[in-house]
Amino acid sequence: MWSENLAYALIQVVHNFGAATVLGGAVLVLWPVLRLEYGRPFAWLIIVGWGAQIASGAVFGLTSFYYYGEMPDLSSIAVAALSVKVAAAITGFLLVALYLARGREWDRVRVKHAFQALAALAATALTAAAFLRWFS
Ligand code: HEM
Repeated sequence: MWSENLAYALIQVVHNFGAATVLGGAVLVLWPVLRLEYGRPFAWLIIVGWGAQIASGAVFGLTSFYYYGEMPDLSSIAVAALSVKVAAAITGFLLVALYLARGREWDRVRVKHAFQALAALAATALTAAAFLRWFS
């Protein structure tokens, strides 16, 4: 029990900092002043954040499987919430990867829209996390 709780707590540490990074990173490019000239360094931080969310989310599932031999039996609301999180994480990862690959060719409006979309995806995933937590 102790080792199980420790495993979940350590995964949650990565998951929580990943959540803070994807939302905070995108918001800080947009607010309180527009900092599009720092878009690339923030984008590197954000891609690490989305990667950490995908990896730690998967490790959550693997840890449950290791300790119980099966995946948790989730309610339909929890499954929907988890699906939203997975979709947001994959979309966020791909969007920021696209920006890093091609963003130099984009005009300022497009870059701003990309960071707005990244912030919205992070906020959506965080909202879904609350439903996953309480409807599991
Ligand atoms: C592949 C994507 C993801 C998977 C598989 C995943 C999976 C999970 C799992 C299994 C939990 C534990 C649920 C529980 O305690 O009942 C969790 C918690 C959490 N996740 Fe994710 N997650 C993903 C992406 C994200 C993203 C993108 C964010 C935010 C940007 C996020 C934020 C959170 C938060 C804040 C919690 C803690 C909720 C709480 O205990 O109150 N997750 N996640």
